[in-house]
Amino acid sequence: MDLFEAIATRRSVRRFADKPVEDEKLAAILEAVRQAPSWANLQCWRLIVVKDSSLKQTLSELSYVESFFSPLGYKSNPARKGIAEAPLVIVACAEPGQSGNIWGQPYYLTDIGIAAQNLMLSARALGLGSVFVGVFDEEKIRTLLGVSPTARVVGLFPVGYPLEEKSSGPPRRPLGEIVFFERWGQPYNR
Ligand SMILES: Cc1cc2nc3c(=O)[nH]c(=O)nc-3n(C[C@H](O)[C@H](O)[C@H](O)COP(=O)(O)O)c2cc1C
Repeated sequence: MDLFEAIATRRSVRRFADKPVEDEKLAAILEAVRQAPSWANLQCWRLIVVKDSSLKQTLSELSYVESFFSPLGYKSNPARKGIAEAPLVIVACAEPGQSGNIWGQPYYLTDIGIAAQNLMLSARALGLGSVFVGVFDEEKIRTLLGVSPTARVVGLFPVGYPLEEKSSGPPRRPLGEIVFFERWGQPYNR
């Protein structure tokens, strides 16, 4: 699949078929993460591949943080079921000390964001689906998986074959709203 097609057709996948992910496909996804650019090439990411059912079940439960979701009227993290049913979950952690932090911008989040997009696009290109899950109880996951005290848990990525193909996703802002020409606020009419 061409890169632009993967970008255009990638959707957050939250429900997965009961079908394992081939080792070669997982290896290709992890390699795509490894190739991502990072601050000073320090590669602050650390990934934990979780396949154990009871660990996935607990990760799924820990993706619902009541204090976050309840005020929004959510009874669950929309990705909760998928974390338990996906054949594997990649837990993306970062060592913030191995990335930049200048002028209030912690670049470990950028590093992981770029790596995450490599993960999700390569999954898409291989016929798989994933979703960036950014809401979870970090401390409980830290304990569950024995994450280093110096690291942060940044995202959970269930990976598997989508239960169904999504033809469209949530709408995007028009270019006219997000792109300016020459100066902030000047319309980009190209
Ligand atoms: C940083 C980040 C955190 C996210 N956290 C969650 C989450 O906790 N649960 C969830 O269901 N989706 C989560 N998402 C997925 C977004 O809701 C989704 O990408 C967005 O609605 C656009 O839909 P699309 O990915 O299908 O294009 C997250 C996405 C990002 C980039």
